[in-house]
Amino acid sequence: MKIAIDGPAASGKTSLGRALARHFGCRFVETGKMYRAVALAFQRGLALDGIEIDVSEDGRLLLNGEDVSDLLHTPGLDRGSSEVATIPAVRERLVSLQRAIADRADVVMEGRDIGTVVLPDADVKIFLSASPEVRARRRVEQRGGGGYAETLREIIRRDERDSTREIAPLNPASDATIIVTDQKTLTEVISEAIHLVKERLEGRWDHG
Ligand code: DC
Repeated sequence: MKIAIDGPAASGKTSLGRALARHFGCRFVETGKMYRAVALAFQRGLALDGIEIDVSEDGRLLLNGEDVSDLLHTPGLDRGSSEVATIPAVRERLVSLQRAIADRADVVMEGRDIGTVVLPDADVKIFLSASPEVRARRRVEQRGGGGYAETLREIIRRDERDSTREIAPLNPASDATIIVTDQKTLTEVISEAIHLVKERLEGRWDHG
């Protein structure tokens, strides 16, 4: 089974993806971490040719063998990952890594282009959406407060870059189910998504 979750920054993809993966017994793959690891490698002065990226089954990100998972969520890498994600050679490398992982296992994979580019044949495609203001507020709450205005500005900047880049811009796949989460709790979004996945799977069995 392949479940694709796409959506803009801070739309709740990771919380939803983790819950779905647990519920359906799939491997959970956060593709944003891979772009973040490339940005970290570039910060360290490495070139794309000198980078080896691996993801362990429990989601740890290895950069040239080093576990860098805990270094990936900084404001610099929020911006840097969104910038490196506009480079075609970077996307090519990471998309083939993502497809190789999905070939070997049932996955819930989240990112920006999973339903459109990485797994166009996914069994279920979900696109999460919420206003920038709601997303900024949730991010600030996650961090325990502070910096709402700057967080909002940065989210709007990333939205702009992720949606206007020439290659694989952020867009819902034509067959994605769009869930607007502004007025919903995480629990509501998770149960809506579980329902959707079950419906799809049952439909598939019914039609043989
Ligand atoms: O989901 P995230 O915030 O960790 O992603 C970091 C950046 O990586 C995001 O701004 C855009 C890019 N990205 C992408 O272009 N395609 C993906 N499938 C995942 C992330």
